[in-house]
Amino acid sequence: MFALCVLAAVCLVTVSSAPLACEELVRPSDRLGLDHLAGTWVMVAGGLSDAAQVDHFKSRDSAIIHFANTSESSKLSFRRAFGFGSSCRFLHSNISLEGSSFNIGQVNFSVTFLFTSCPDCLVMHFDNQQSKMQRLYLFSRRRELEPREMEEHKAQSLCLNMIPPVLMDPTKELCPVKAPEGDEETDGH
Ligand SMILES: *[C@@H]1O[C@H](CO)[C@@H](O)[C@H](O)[C@H]1NC(C)=O
Ligand SMILES: *[C@@H]1O[C@H](CO)[C@@H](O)[C@H](O)[C@H]1NC(C)=O
Ligand SMILES: *[C@@H]1O[C@H](CO)[C@@H](O)[C@H](O)[C@H]1NC(C)=O
Repeated sequence: MFALCVLAAVCLVTVSSAPLACEELVRPSDRLGLDHLAGTWVMVAGGLSDAAQVDHFKSRDSAIIHFANTSESSKLSFRRAFGFGSSCRFLHSNISLEGSSFNIGQVNFSVTFLFTSCPDCLVMHFDNQQSKMQRLYLFSRRRELEPREMEEHKAQSLCLNMIPPVLMDPTKELCPVKAPEGDEETDGH
């Protein structure tokens, strides 16, 4: 809490148009549910907790996520498809949303949807308690956002003590949501 208060001053400087304090910028999102989440979202930027992860992160040319309902009403299907050059990697988990968070069990990631003022964006904070690795991903229905939307996201990264977001290249081809038969991994990251 103390760190958040100290950093709030930095955030107020960074976001020029609509200054929001860190407390606002890192609070969990309150507009979730399948109606909002369903369908495909494209990764626009990724915030990393450690500069040493940047090269690994940049090895992905593109990333999309996809939420859908399942036959079990308490579970959502969460698919991810990453592009690496001409190949794709597909992951699939069934998740249970608890408030604005869910866990990806086997890899011990706790994921929380955070505030965003952008109506067609998702901000997801991935936190691995064991490895202390944090990621802050910005997804949208659009591939490129307005400068003020990017400023808000950058301020969020700073509030969480992360390095400035790494932008995805909006011209790169996206993978399909679903893998060809049998080419899908479950519960990875
Ligand atoms: C997710 O749940 C559906 C049933 O609702 C099941 O068919 C599918 O195999 C599950 N997938 C994973 C990755 O657990
Ligand atoms: C999932 O949602 C679609 C579209 O809203 C609906 O048609 C379908 O019946 C739902 N499937 C399940 C298993 O609830
Ligand atoms: C996840 O956490 C559990 C319990 O703390 C641990 O036993 C397991 O090895 C962890 N898995 C990974 C992939 O780190």
